[in-house]
Amino acid sequence: MEVQFIIGAARPEQFPPEELPEVAFLGRSNVGKSSLLNRLVRSDAIARISSKPGCTRTINFFRVDGRMHFVDLPGYGYAKIPMEQRKAWRPVIESYLAGRRQLGICLLLLDARRGWMEMDLELQRWLESHRRRYQVVATKFDKLDSRKQQQDGLAAIRSHCGGVEPIPFSAVTGQGVRELWQTITTINQ
Ligand code: GTP
Ligand code: MG
Repeated sequence: MEVQFIIGAARPEQFPPEELPEVAFLGRSNVGKSSLLNRLVRSDAIARISSKPGCTRTINFFRVDGRMHFVDLPGYGYAKIPMEQRKAWRPVIESYLAGRRQLGICLLLLDARRGWMEMDLELQRWLESHRRRYQVVATKFDKLDSRKQQQDGLAAIRSHCGGVEPIPFSAVTGQGVRELWQTITTINQ
């Protein structure tokens, strides 16, 4: 799979031209957006990953196989990022999500152990009111040890998914990679 970094955009004027269908990666800080993106394209080094939240600080565009863009967004809900910075991002992210014509689907990532948190629900409502298509993904699924934990975690997430099945995912084991690619290619055809 051929992946190229295009640009880390801090302002809407820096978004690349709208020529390819796009997939956006959304979720709280540290939920695993960049790890999921890397795993989907089978690379360790494309999107920056960090054990510290707040790693991704610009809207990062990647061209995948010359067919689509993957768009890695900064995470929300991380208290240590200065208020000023968070305030500055919001209009940029919202302008992307509200206005981007090529955006085919948003992957809304939730930590499988934590489920929905207030800011996730807020984002979900925002996406729905803007009629954006999204797929919920339960990340770090490998961290749920027992079958019971896995079932309970998924059930809690499912209860707010409006009848659409969340996809369990692990960047460590690769669980969910195939299902996610299926969703992405179905939408972007
Ligand atoms: P921001 O860019 O800060 O918003 O974070 P992010 O959502 O991009 O998270 P990132 O991919 O940087 O991962 C955060 C941490 O979680 C890193 O230490 C990853 O190694 C770890 N992590 C991500 N996905 C998984 C997973 O599926 N399983 C496990 N065990 N750890 C994961
Ligand atoms: Mg990131």
